Amino acid sequence: MTRSIASWLNEACEQLRQCDDNFRRDAETLLSWVLGKNRVYLFTWPEKMLTQEQENKLAESLVRRLKGEPVAYIIGEQEFWSMPFYVNRHTLIPRPDTEVIVEQALKHLPPDSRVLDLGTGSGAIALAVAKERRDCRIDAVDFSEQAIEQATKNRDRHCLENVSIYQSHWYQSVSGSFDLIVSNPPYIDAEDEHLSKGGLSYEPYSALVAEDNGLADIQHIVNEGQKYLNRHSWLMVEHGWQQKDAVQDIFIKAGYHRVTSVQDYGGNDRVTLGQNSE
Ligand SMILES: C[S@@+](CC[C@H](N)C(=O)[O-])C[C@H]1O[C@@H](n2cnc3c(N)ncnc32)[C@H](O)[C@@H]1O
Repeated sequence: MTRSIASWLNEACEQLRQCDDNFRRDAETLLSWVLGKNRVYLFTWPEKMLTQEQENKLAESLVRRLKGEPVAYIIGEQEFWSMPFYVNRHTLIPRPDTEVIVEQALKHLPPDSRVLDLGTGSGAIALAVAKERRDCRIDAVDFSEQAIEQATKNRDRHCLENVSIYQSHWYQSVSGSFDLIVSNPPYIDAEDEHLSKGGLSYEPYSALVAEDNGLADIQHIVNEGQKYLNRHSWLMVEHGWQQKDAVQDIFIKAGYHRVTSVQDYGGNDRVTLGQNSE
């Protein structure tokens, strides 16, 4: 027996409300995805009956969500910078807070620039910048083959021909110099208790965790950065909300000028940037 749209939504909300703060939005997203329709459709046609196939797919999705799997992995997609991105278990789900680094990049980009995005994952930062600035050429790298595959699919989906995506262990396969380097590297400490909780446990460990209290990758990116930056060009990294002082220290010790940090929309220190002194 199948149910109507309204009845499935009510029952799904009842089940999800115990474990999911965004239970209504998540139930609607799953239903929209299975029906291949937008949210407006759900409220325009509440009495419409689901097919058995739709019921089965929804039942399977609901079980996955109830176990804690993020909706983005279930539906294979996440919106970032008002652009849809394909995501899977090999790529971090792009976060709204990461839009702060995109805003800072756009603010510091001279015309016809060359940009490097280190640890591109789904390609979120690189492709958002590329969309806004078609005059710029962007290199987006990641050491994960699966991330490169996903970022390439996203680039092709958005027809952004100004982005080159390739595999590299940080700067290892990168050549030339850049007018801006951006990175959202792994920055969580291996002992952080949040890693085993909620959605984080579904995301790739290598995208989240770094040695030295989460600072090892940031340290490497900042220390090596000046070799790849043009004169007076900027490097910016995303970091944890409690890492501002440590990250500023890394920039200053490495010899960057005008080191400063920017907060995310929740008022947490999120991005630190510095200018190449040479
Ligand atoms: C926090 S995720 C950021 C993904 C994406 N930039 C975003 O903001 O959604 C960090 C990314 O760095 C990549 N990464 C980790 N270690 C790396 C390394 N040694 N070289 C290159 N990329 C690396 C991971 O595969 C992952 O895609």
